[in-house]
Amino acid sequence: MKPLHSLERKLVLSLAKNGEGLLEDVAIKADMTLDQARRAIEWLRSKNMVEVKTTTRYIIEIAEEGKRAIEHGLPERRLVEVLKKLGKEVKLDELSKAFDSTPQEFSAAFGHARARGWIDTDNGKKTVKLTSDKISSEESLLRMFVAKKKLFLDEFKEEKRAALSELIKRPGYFTKRPVKTIFIMLTDLGRETAETVKEVKEIDNLTPELIISGRWRELKLRPFDVEAVAPTSYPGKKHPVQRFIDEVKEAFISLGFEEIVGPIIQPAFWNFDALFVPQDHPARDMQDTFYIPNIKDTKTSSLDLIENVSRTHTDGGDTGSKGWGYDWKLDESKRLVLRTHTTAVTVKYLADTRASEAKVFSVDKVFRNEKLDTKHLAELHQIEGIVMGRKVTLRDLMGVLSEFYKILGLKKVKFWPTYFPYTEPSLQSIVYVEDFGWMELCGMGIFRPEVTLPLGVKNPVLAWGGGLERLIMTRLHIEDIRELYENNLGWLRKVPLCL
Ligand code: PHE
Repeated sequence: MKPLHSLERKLVLSLAKNGEGLLEDVAIKADMTLDQARRAIEWLRSKNMVEVKTTTRYIIEIAEEGKRAIEHGLPERRLVEVLKKLGKEVKLDELSKAFDSTPQEFSAAFGHARARGWIDTDNGKKTVKLTSDKISSEESLLRMFVAKKKLFLDEFKEEKRAALSELIKRPGYFTKRPVKTIFIMLTDLGRETAETVKEVKEIDNLTPELIISGRWRELKLRPFDVEAVAPTSYPGKKHPVQRFIDEVKEAFISLGFEEIVGPIIQPAFWNFDALFVPQDHPARDMQDTFYIPNIKDTKTSSLDLIENVSRTHTDGGDTGSKGWGYDWKLDESKRLVLRTHTTAVTVKYLADTRASEAKVFSVDKVFRNEKLDTKHLAELHQIEGIVMGRKVTLRDLMGVLSEFYKILGLKKVKFWPTYFPYTEPSLQSIVYVEDFGWMELCGMGIFRPEVTLPLGVKNPVLAWGGGLERLIMTRLHIEDIRELYENNLGWLRKVPLCL
């Protein structure tokens, strides 16, 4: 048998002793709060030890007119009293005058009195006489409400029910409303359990006193029921996107990478120029890029790389390239943008460190002037990494990437050639995601000499970058990327912690 919680034991014993009943009474008899009783009943029900019957009962409550009738009598009773005073047989209009109410009230009282058989008319309905004055069933019904204001409909006898259905038709006499009642009873198993429970005295709390005195040796400790139903709780937790970011960072770190971070606002110089993106490239357009209006970067012009980058764009400079063959403008490179990719941070890192070897990554926010839809956000995260070394090759790049995505649970990766202005060769990759199919992953390549040489970087740099949110979508089985940032509490609560 599953171990019972102390509340369960208490309730089973009380039900066996005091018998079944309504939830409220059962709780009182078991000496529990309503809440404790509810919990114990829920657990016992899942163990088949109690049965719960929920029914709807109707409460009948006396209302204003009804109270008045209790005090002054029903209108038909008042009418009969007036008639008695006037002499048991009177003219109809005299009676009406003496009753002193509106014609509608008089005729209603008159109708009811006649229906009870209390009065009758004579002389072509001109005179009224008293025929009886015995108590009506409506009156005896009203008496039931002298002491109590509310009664359950099912407590009424047949004849009282008929009277009630008559009186309830009159406005303002009674109100009728449904209430749920919960009836608790023991099952056979519950009864058997009560018998066995009686004998063993189990304790729930191992207190310091019990341990120090050694009394715990004589007592039986209640084992935990780890399968007991418990209320669902929703503790605070990290946002699913942040959890995935942490996981991606872990994956990089486990492969020996170090994290780099940089500002969200960048001069076009780092976002585009240093990456050999020509100044008339469509990606620089306002349609694709958010520019910060009215201010320009102040540091760019003093960079000692300006000359190198400018010449590389114009005619290739010392890189052996022909460049783009246009007139490079410093002013354009000083415009500020919300970075469109984390490659801006990567290239600045290369320029700043001028190291010969590196394995660094970033997982950070980027911005694109996109129309929002199920697959596109304007503010999103990119995963980006580079490996720089004397002998690294395209094969290493594909190997590192396959390894990296394997850690994230994505095993099938494919590559094919593509184009970026800053890499050569350039590759695009797709991965196979269970229940989803093939999906685009990231762009990558080896930085062109037009990018590395002006920065003073000699060794080849393998680089890749791609979206983070799409990966989360496949993980969480989300169809609309915007859901990730809607902060819908219902959804946030339900997202499992382990995936
Ligand atoms: N910056 C590219 C993008 O935003 C990805 C990329 C990074 C491509 C590094 C090649 C090398 O899509």
